[in-house]
Amino acid sequence: TIPHITILGSLNTDLVAYVPHHPLPGETLTATSFLTSPGGKGSNQAVACAKLSRPRSLTSPSAHVSMVGAVGSDPNGTLLLTNLTSHGVDPSLVSTLPGTKTGIAMIVVEAETGQNRIIISGEANHQVDESFLTKGNWLEKTDMLIMQLEIPMGTVLKAVEEAKKRGVDVLLNPAPAKKLPGSVYEGLKHLVVNETEAAILGDVDEEELDTLEGLERVGEKFGGMGVENFIATLGGRGVYYLTKDGKKGLVEAERGVKVVDTTGAGDTFVGRYALDAAAARKEGKEFDIEGAVKKANKAAAVTVQREGAAASIPWRDEVE
Ligand code: RIB
Ligand code: NA
Repeated sequence: TIPHITILGSLNTDLVAYVPHHPLPGETLTATSFLTSPGGKGSNQAVACAKLSRPRSLTSPSAHVSMVGAVGSDPNGTLLLTNLTSHGVDPSLVSTLPGTKTGIAMIVVEAETGQNRIIISGEANHQVDESFLTKGNWLEKTDMLIMQLEIPMGTVLKAVEEAKKRGVDVLLNPAPAKKLPGSVYEGLKHLVVNETEAAILGDVDEEELDTLEGLERVGEKFGGMGVENFIATLGGRGVYYLTKDGKKGLVEAERGVKVVDTTGAGDTFVGRYALDAAAARKEGKEFDIEGAVKKANKAAAVTVQREGAAASIPWRDEVE
């Protein structure tokens, strides 16, 4: 039987402007193009799990993927629900909240580097409270729970606690970065961070992450607090991992990648990595973290070469 992965998190409508350079204070810029597309870290990670679990034909998925969260009662909310369904994510635990707007992300992507700057207005995502944890008893049916930090912190902390109590594996992607209480790390199965998040959560300078030794020290710090698998995504430098049982390494970034829009790359990484982690757990096999990181890295390299978030995430048959 296939693992059941649940993503508890945000859904946003991304308003994306592609610009020659980021605007200076007081400057008005003309975008070279603009697009509106489904996004939000929670929704993107759900879509990544689903798209990377099956070929485009939607046949024989390797995981059951469902999303828990909220949208507003506006056309954007409807589009986000359709986006989940069309990619094979079960949307039945996403609430449409009356009198509330759907979350918005205003994104500016610079042409030369493909780097983005994002402003989020959480809207319905702010209403995802602890009552969402008991809907339809989803925790009882979940093998792996994936979360980010675009919904209220109290809900995330409670979900971590409830999941651990039930022996559900938790993957936490603490984005956008916020400091977390130490209890979160105790028995946390997977922590996936980028450089900024590693520095803020680990309470170190970002320069500390410039060397392999520094990365190892930070990884060990989280390990000492109870994290089993520590993964740091380092953009062009690749991905570093360190596990409780001493596996470690730096997987290099894919070569020859023309970066168009990095939006959704981290989410793609999380989704592909989670599929392997959840499958190993379900089958009672040893988790090949290096293999998982490599596949995730490869999938994310496709995402950065395409515009938008959800739409830029590859199907499994596009990468494997
Ligand atoms: O990780 C990318 C996502 O972050 C975007 O889709 C945007 O909605 C923000 O939440
Ligand atoms: Na992209």
